[in-house]
Amino acid sequence: MPKHPSIAQLFNEKPVGTRVTVKGWVRTFRNDQFITVTDGSTIKTIQVVINKENFEEDTLKKIQTGACISATGTLEKSLGKGQEIEVVCEALEILGESDPNEFPIQMKRHTLEFLREKAHLRFRTNTFGAVFRLRHHLAFAIHKFFNDRGFFYLHSPIITGSDAEGAGEMFRVTNLDLENLPKNEKGEIDYSQDFFGKTTNLTVSGQLEAELAALALGSVYTFGPTFRAENSNTSRHLAEFWMIEPEVAFNDIHDNQDLAEDFLKYCIQYALDHAREDLEFLQEREINEDKLKPVDERQSMPLIQRLEFVVNNQFERITYTEAIDILLNSSHYKKKKFKFNVEWGIDLQSEHERYLVEKHFQKPVIITGYPAKIKAFYMRLNEDGKTVAAMDILVPGIGEIIGGSQREERYEVLLEKCKAFNIPEDHIWWYLETRKFGTCPHAGFGLGFERLIMYVTGMQNIRDVIPFPRTPQNAEF
Ligand code: 4AD
Ligand code: MG
Repeated sequence: MPKHPSIAQLFNEKPVGTRVTVKGWVRTFRNDQFITVTDGSTIKTIQVVINKENFEEDTLKKIQTGACISATGTLEKSLGKGQEIEVVCEALEILGESDPNEFPIQMKRHTLEFLREKAHLRFRTNTFGAVFRLRHHLAFAIHKFFNDRGFFYLHSPIITGSDAEGAGEMFRVTNLDLENLPKNEKGEIDYSQDFFGKTTNLTVSGQLEAELAALALGSVYTFGPTFRAENSNTSRHLAEFWMIEPEVAFNDIHDNQDLAEDFLKYCIQYALDHAREDLEFLQEREINEDKLKPVDERQSMPLIQRLEFVVNNQFERITYTEAIDILLNSSHYKKKKFKFNVEWGIDLQSEHERYLVEKHFQKPVIITGYPAKIKAFYMRLNEDGKTVAAMDILVPGIGEIIGGSQREERYEVLLEKCKAFNIPEDHIWWYLETRKFGTCPHAGFGLGFERLIMYVTGMQNIRDVIPFPRTPQNAEF
């Protein structure tokens, strides 16, 4: 046991009778005797018991919610209700004071909106402690899943000259003087004078580079930040989010679905196995929040049961065409309850996706075979000549959590696609060359990391699962 063990270590090992030093932050101080301390290592708090006769008045005054303390004493079995061990304190040091009149995180319920404004301190709350511990466990599970299966972790560039998704929602990277832009003879901005000698952006996806690597290393995955300048102020969109993108040589669209389903289930099971207490806390939290909501907006199953259900049941697999048929035949459609039009060829709107997963199937659904026109240029054209081997995974409460496809590996077909999508050959010559030299069938997908965390924690706003969210008009901290 180290000199000052974490609270997690103390509860794991319970070295009753030994002298320990606990360092952490004061939650409450009751009856001039009981200090509840948290150190973030676990959702559990430890009780430090003091005899006020032994301490200076000045020290006692500084034991306030939010203050940081170091308490040394003997670890003993607790007689109090609801806790197994406590520290009977002999020496107490105030490491950092906290003025109770100014500390914004009080022991009452705060709204998540309020805590977003205090993102520098919200880590101190139970909810955000649990969310960010889970975020860690899920990141670790992701690396473990791929490492155990022989994938190599690939670091794709963050600054790029290409628009992988072709959606044009990119953040420009430049060091040109915006007040004094260099111009060419035609009076246009002269990007040859920019840092990279051309226009560059923050990446929207590491996929294209992952494909290059997969066609040499076999199985690779990226796990890094991605950026999208889409002006969507929703509870599921961030301008900066993290994406995991596996890419596998010789996989087809069926292998791709199997990999994605196994992967999601593995991550969820890992959280159930390694972060049980945090999940139990978040489940309680959700139940209490639900009580404030109208009945039809409440969760049908408690969090842990929902997660177990996902792990233990097969995902539904349907084609886009089948999805459209289900929507057209729904009473929802007949009663004109969809805001957006439904017909073959449309991009599914989130109301359509939610209907499919939440009302119709009530479980995760994999949709394949989307119309080529509404999907990215790199997706493999199917035999019918109008659909592509695309794959979206939708889950209840979130909507799209994964997007992927089998890739177009045929040089001529890909070249045609680039033309049709107005992608200049000299922008993407390197991508095309992999189809010239030893091309092969391959497939991959992208998982939005924050959407996974939302799903596992039950948090309903994506801003509450990333430490410092970046959204339109907001880049504080
Ligand atoms: O469906 P998307 O755009 O797919 C790609 O970027 C492909 N290159 C992936 C691939 O095949 N390698 O994005 C993948 C996932 C989405 O399903 C969603 O979970 C998440 O990334 N995502 C976002 N998450 C948060 N905020 C945003 N603005 C997001 N946009 C996409
Ligand atoms: Mg998508």
